[in-house]
Amino acid sequence: MTRKEFLRSCGTMAAGVALSGVFLQSCAGIHYAAFSRDGNRLVVPKSEFSTQKNQKTIERDLVIIKTAASDIPIAVHKSGSEYTAVLLRCTHRGCELNPGGGQFTCPCHGSEFTLQGTVLEGPAEENLTTYKITTDHDNIYIELT
Ligand code: FES
Repeated sequence: MTRKEFLRSCGTMAAGVALSGVFLQSCAGIHYAAFSRDGNRLVVPKSEFSTQKNQKTIERDLVIIKTAASDIPIAVHKSGSEYTAVLLRCTHRGCELNPGGGQFTCPCHGSEFTLQGTVLEGPAEENLTTYKITTDHDNIYIELT
C-alpha cells in the first residue's frame, strides 16, 4: 500500500466514524416517554429514563412527553435524582423548541434555554414554563395546574 492509498483509507475510515457518531447521536436523541394521567397529574415511570441494549442498561437524562391536550410537548430532565419539567414553548413568540446539545433551541429566531428552562440567549427574555414535580420509588408526577 502506498502512502497515498494509506492516507485515503484513513480519511475514509475517519469520515465513517464521524458519520456513525452523528447517526448514533441522532438516533439516541429523543425518547417519547410512555405516561398515564391521574387527574391533573402526568405519571411517568422512572424506567422511561433507561433502556436495555445488548444486555447493558443505557441511562437517558431527557424524555419528551406528548399529550393529546397540547400541541407543545413537555420535556422532563433528570440530573442525578432530581427531575425538572418544562413546556417546550418558546417565551418569545411561542414556537416549539428543539432539544439537542444539552439545551433547547428555538427554530424561529434562535433563542436558547437550559434544560431547566432558563434563558441562555434571546430574543426570548422569560424563562420557560415549568411544572412542579414529585416522585416516589417508581414514578415521576408532573402537576399540570
Ligand atoms: S419564537 Fe422563539 S425566538 Fe422567537
